[in-house]
Amino acid sequence: MTSPNATLQIGGQSIELPTLRGSLGPDVIDTRALGSQGYFTYDPGFLSTASCSSSITYIDGDQGLLYYRGYPIEQIAEGSDFLETAYLLWNGELPNVEQKQEFDALVSQHTMLHDQMLSLYKGFRRDAHPMAVMVSIIGAMAAFYPESGDVADAKQREISMFRLLAKVPTVAAWSYKYNKGEPFIYPQNHMGYAENFLYMLHATPCEDYQPSPVLARALDRIFILHADHEQNASTSTVRMAGSSYANPFACIAAGTACLWGPLHGGANASVLAMLAEMGDVSRIGEYVNRAKDKTSGFRLMGFGHRVYKNMDPRAAIMRQTCYEVLDELGLHDDPLFKMALKLEQIALEDDYFIKKKLYPNVDFYSGIVLRALGIPTSMFTAIFALARTAGWIAQWNEMIVSPGHKIARPRQLYTGPQRRDFVPVSAR
Ligand code: ACO
Repeated sequence: MTSPNATLQIGGQSIELPTLRGSLGPDVIDTRALGSQGYFTYDPGFLSTASCSSSITYIDGDQGLLYYRGYPIEQIAEGSDFLETAYLLWNGELPNVEQKQEFDALVSQHTMLHDQMLSLYKGFRRDAHPMAVMVSIIGAMAAFYPESGDVADAKQREISMFRLLAKVPTVAAWSYKYNKGEPFIYPQNHMGYAENFLYMLHATPCEDYQPSPVLARALDRIFILHADHEQNASTSTVRMAGSSYANPFACIAAGTACLWGPLHGGANASVLAMLAEMGDVSRIGEYVNRAKDKTSGFRLMGFGHRVYKNMDPRAAIMRQTCYEVLDELGLHDDPLFKMALKLEQIALEDDYFIKKKLYPNVDFYSGIVLRALGIPTSMFTAIFALARTAGWIAQWNEMIVSPGHKIARPRQLYTGPQRRDFVPVSAR
């Protein structure tokens, strides 16, 4: 089926704009020719703009669907693991047994950081935020692997992709260890990806730590759920930075910096803070009423999403993971989880939330799982960054190899002064 053209009537002129049809989702009006006609579109925040074409991730916010390369997130979270998910995001297809073994082995060969990087860590204050450290260390890797700057070379791109995926857990775990004043724990290559990360966080030289398979699996699922989410702010940042053929480590550092912002990563920590402040199920009504009162400036944390106007499919998976983790740890009566369940039930039956299509998002339950895994809130965004690295790399590579690649160069609606003559300071 062909898509109809759109016609733009402006200043007595009629401009025909083709529409493009993707494999799923709404048609997209192709405005590329407008610039040559002297017009630009104005869309701050990209509310109505597709910034690229991509075959990696699909979201239908009205129906609450999330697909990685066509596979529903529920099926991937149930049947796959994070490294296989990364393989899928990068390559477009699921690996066979040999391909999976080879991929896992390659990742495990790159987990150590260059020894000189220890000096970089030691330059930070002990109370440095883990995200500040991650942005710096990931960016600094460009200095350790200068050949990675040759982004036209497919082999170099591939090595950088593996290095990033493999080293980011070590970078994140060490930023936490440095905060705590504990020695860095080296990665164990025989361990699974999430298992190894928990080990590097919680083991010390004098005490071993072996995470239970249920807990490692829960963290792996958090990684899967956060691995990609199409053209969100941090992914768009990675693409924007990479569009100039910048070094990939610098691009991922840029994405990490963007994710750090409270409007992007970090809402799960706010959910925990809100539940802790609430303190008891008896106060849920009070908080729901505050969230509905526009003058309060308060919002129910973990509710609502720019794209999902239905249940965030990741939230339902996270809720189930909460049950599994708390069960494993014998925390059946976890008060925060009980409050979260009740709050979800009350909000979903409330007219305000129904009318505004405000449903729990992935952050609503993920903080409870991370807390149960012994991970402090200061590390929540770092874990998001670790997982999203898989998607950032896939999107970066897709952009680099896309035919007709162009540097990203948005235009603007200028609102400053018109031409005027400079006046020397003595005459002002
Ligand atoms: N509690 C109460 N009211 C809300 C909430 C909420 N959590 N979220 C949105 N609303 C209301 C707004 O007040 C607004 O009402 P109005 O139309 O009467 O003015 C309406 O719903 C639409 O809200 P917007 O802010 O315009 O929606 P937007 O798509 O820009 O924002 C966002 C989405 C930022 C996620 C918002 O829902 C929010 O602040 N939620 C709480 C924070 C949160 O959970 N963030 C995590 C997002 S998921 C992620 O980043 C992985």
